[in-house]
Amino acid sequence: MHLERILQSQGFGTRKSCRALIRAGRVTVAGTPVDDPFADLPTAGLAFAVDGEPWLFREKVYLMLHKPSGYECSQAPQFHRPVYALLPEPLVRRGVQSVGRLDQDTTGLLLLSDDGQFIHTWSSGRKRIPKIYEVGVRHPADQALVATLLAGVQLHDEPAPVRAAACIATGERSLRLTITEGKYHQVKRMVAAAGNRVETLHRRAVGGLELPADLPEGGWRWLEAGDLARLAAFAEPA
Ligand code: URA
Repeated sequence: MHLERILQSQGFGTRKSCRALIRAGRVTVAGTPVDDPFADLPTAGLAFAVDGEPWLFREKVYLMLHKPSGYECSQAPQFHRPVYALLPEPLVRRGVQSVGRLDQDTTGLLLLSDDGQFIHTWSSGRKRIPKIYEVGVRHPADQALVATLLAGVQLHDEPAPVRAAACIATGERSLRLTITEGKYHQVKRMVAAAGNRVETLHRRAVGGLELPADLPEGGWRWLEAGDLARLAAFAEPA
């Protein structure tokens, strides 16, 4: 593929602006400057750099973000900054979107991609993938609360009670709660329906994929093949 097309596909702007970047000598391939926009290169495993920033050619983008509080997953947020502001420009230009949504005040593991099928598969809830949350609650996290969440609570607008797939008290006012659906404000509504209130919410895992301890709030990382396999580990066939 021509270098200018490669850069365009990776989110570096229009063909014209990618051509200008290359002609200005701002692009290196495998460490060597290339100023010919029509240099024909194999894309598989292609390592290039723009203004010294290294990139690897990726057909599609799959990444995890440690979402901080105060960021919205919406593309057109109304009251807070968008999570997309935490990503490099080329990824945003590629149209990366969050896989499902976390509330603005929820922290933790958020997946993002520009692969529409992937986003649909993992946000639809059909695979009943477990999502594990650390939940801080206002009133004591007693056994009655745990039992109620495990037995199922009736949410407004839901035809049947919704159960936690797993739930344990982790402290006087904290729970570890696993859900396999992805309903709107599900954890907050479940806890409220059980007579308590969520004060803090943090997603620690989706499927078998855990938020790495060394990924700081606001930081992101590519998802590699092993991560994608861990994500799918507990999925039910659709
Ligand atoms: N459940 C909620 O209530 N909020 C989230 O952000 C995620 C799950």
